[in-house]
Amino acid sequence: MRRIQSIFTIILFLILPGMLTTSCESNRGQVIPYVKVDVYLFLYADLAGVGIGSSKLIAGHGANGIVLYRASDLEFYAYDRTCTLWPEHTAAVVEDSTFFGVFECPECKSTYLLMNGAEPNSGPATYPLVEYHTSIRGDVLHIFN
Ligand code: FES
Repeated sequence: MRRIQSIFTIILFLILPGMLTTSCESNRGQVIPYVKVDVYLFLYADLAGVGIGSSKLIAGHGANGIVLYRASDLEFYAYDRTCTLWPEHTAAVVEDSTFFGVFECPECKSTYLLMNGAEPNSGPATYPLVEYHTSIRGDVLHIFN
């Protein structure tokens, strides 16, 4: 009986931290209100002016608009502009005028680095900007969730 208790205790200490870590990870993408996103953009028309390493704001989609980041010729990342510190504030991050690819919440001054998965770079926010899926078929970029 004692042996069974020891085995149970060991299992509890090995499995429980893993479960907690997993549940934290699954919070990503769920810190802002869900809004259906389904956007199509033409690479050589809508995105012709978006160079590698630069970004474009897409208004009217997502919770507070989307910021699209071009990492390479055919590699795009789309993030919701909602600051993740207090998503209910509906504050949309804006690009820092001095640092390319750095977006800042106008309220709490949290900054997010697009080239690093929109992870918080400074300020009180701890979650990255919520990311949407992107895919390219032909000359069309699809942004969706
Ligand atoms: S959203 Fe109000 S604090 Fe960043």
